[in-house]
Amino acid sequence: MQRIISINNRKGGSSKTTTAINLAYEFAKSGYRTLLIDLDPQGNASSKFVEDYEAVVGIAEVLSKSININYAIHETSASRNLFVIPSKIELDDVAEYMQGNSQIALLSKVLKELKEEYQVIILDSNPGIPILLKNCVYAADMIIIPVNVDRNSIKGVDLTLKKINETIYDSPSDLNIDYRILISMVTHSAGGPTNIAKGVLKAVKDTYKDKVLDTTIRMQSKPAQLQTFENEYYATDFNTGYGCDYKKLKEEIEEIVKVGQCPASEEL
Ligand SMILES: Nc1ncnc2c1ncn2[C@@H]1O[C@H](COP(=O)(O)OP(=O)(O)O)[C@@H](O)[C@H]1O
Ligand SMILES: [Mg+2]
Repeated sequence: MQRIISINNRKGGSSKTTTAINLAYEFAKSGYRTLLIDLDPQGNASSKFVEDYEAVVGIAEVLSKSININYAIHETSASRNLFVIPSKIELDDVAEYMQGNSQIALLSKVLKELKEEYQVIILDSNPGIPILLKNCVYAADMIIIPVNVDRNSIKGVDLTLKKINETIYDSPSDLNIDYRILISMVTHSAGGPTNIAKGVLKAVKDTYKDKVLDTTIRMQSKPAQLQTFENEYYATDFNTGYGCDYKKLKEEIEEIVKVGQCPASEEL
């Protein structure tokens, strides 16, 4: 069964793109045919996987010119199961048009053209463009809200939840959306999270209770870069870095959204 997971937080710099990329990679690595869709005109996720991503057909053309979504899907060298639909700056204008026409169901409509060809679809969105966030919410089965370990981040969660509720309210059908909060950039010392991080973790759990995922993502001093994505990330950083946290996250999400039978594990 296909599952659409959207990574949203109204606050920028809250690990959305990092989570989208690494979660997509983990699903692909364990055998799921996975599609990562970049819905941020800045194209941060696109630039990790598609060379010259501004020059190829991407989500902007699909949403604005009715180009069939299949033409916008690009293979990646990271995994034979990982595919990407890139974004580009023109998505900004497309979003403005969508906003003017209150098109909250457009993304959901074009995703139906995929006919369940991908088992997992991950959406990485832009925090500042409400219509794109609403399109993600409308299309998704589950929303992950990553928050960094700092007290201001909680405001981002509340704002995001407000938008989720607005989307449900504006929607012609009853949307059935599950959302979970992922705590990221948790500072670790030798024995695990630092006391400051533990305090913030407790505060978030006291507020959002069972909506907080068990998995947390540690602060990694050197985030994975494009040229080192397969090598350094998995070789050097696997035991010490956030690679193992994202693997755990994939396992937790897999349980929650019930992606279904995974084909025989793959490659790498
Ligand atoms: N767990 C982490 N440890 C260290 N740096 C991180 C971590 N997660 C994200 N970052 C860094 O923080 C910055 C913002 O993350 P990003 O995923 O781009 O956020 P967003 O998409 O929400 O704006 C990036 O430079 C990214 O490399
Ligand atoms: Mg981003």
